[in-house]
Amino acid sequence: PFGKPANEQSLKVFQEGGSLLDAVERGIHVAEADVSNASVGLGGIPNSEGVVQLDACIMDGEGHRAGSVAALEDILHPISVARRIMDDSKHVMLAGDGARQFALAKGFASTELLTEEREAEWKKWRNDNHPPDNHDTIALLGLDGNHHIVGGCSTSGWGYKLPGRVGDSPIIGSGLYVDNQIGAAGATGLGENVMRHCTSFLAVEYMRQGLHPEEACVEAIRRAIA
Ligand code: GLY
Repeated sequence: PFGKPANEQSLKVFQEGGSLLDAVERGIHVAEADVSNASVGLGGIPNSEGVVQLDACIMDGEGHRAGSVAALEDILHPISVARRIMDDSKHVMLAGDGARQFALAKGFASTELLTEEREAEWKKWRNDNHPPDNHDTIALLGLDGNHHIVGGCSTSGWGYKLPGRVGDSPIIGSGLYVDNQIGAAGATGLGENVMRHCTSFLAVEYMRQGLHPEEACVEAIRRAIA
């Protein structure tokens, strides 16, 4: 349900003259800012210590550029921090407090991401250890009329995960992979399954071998579940 409004916002930004990067970034903002969404950004399910830790990445097929953040705390839009890492630093990935310090230095505001609702659920979980039903992720891909592709991915990850757990979403090739010459893929689902198989990279490589995108996804998933 949160994918559609994100895509609609993305399309709007692009139609109003924003770049493809702007479109993907601002589409993902919708999911990150939505408190009702327990899987991404503000209102995401916290880790086992009650702290929301976010993972995100962005990749630009033009120049094969990428930026990503892992286990980022206190910042509302991890996708934008990932973009700043790509645009303004020599690195691809920053994690933990280093990512947070980078974001603060770039002017991002420190924000409490744990909502009262998620805190109450977390306290209940501490007592009865009942795991959340599932978690999800947003992976958003944009393609313009010039074969330019941009992708982004953002998540709060596995609910009540161990502190410091990083999933597939910020790992280039696992949660997201973009190649202007071929295509792109983004993953949702349990990161531990995705990241052991570089699943997004694999899907793009299957397309490179000539498979239809749907077939490529099926084959990549087949490899992951084998
Ligand atoms: N796919 C998101 C995660 O497992 O963290």
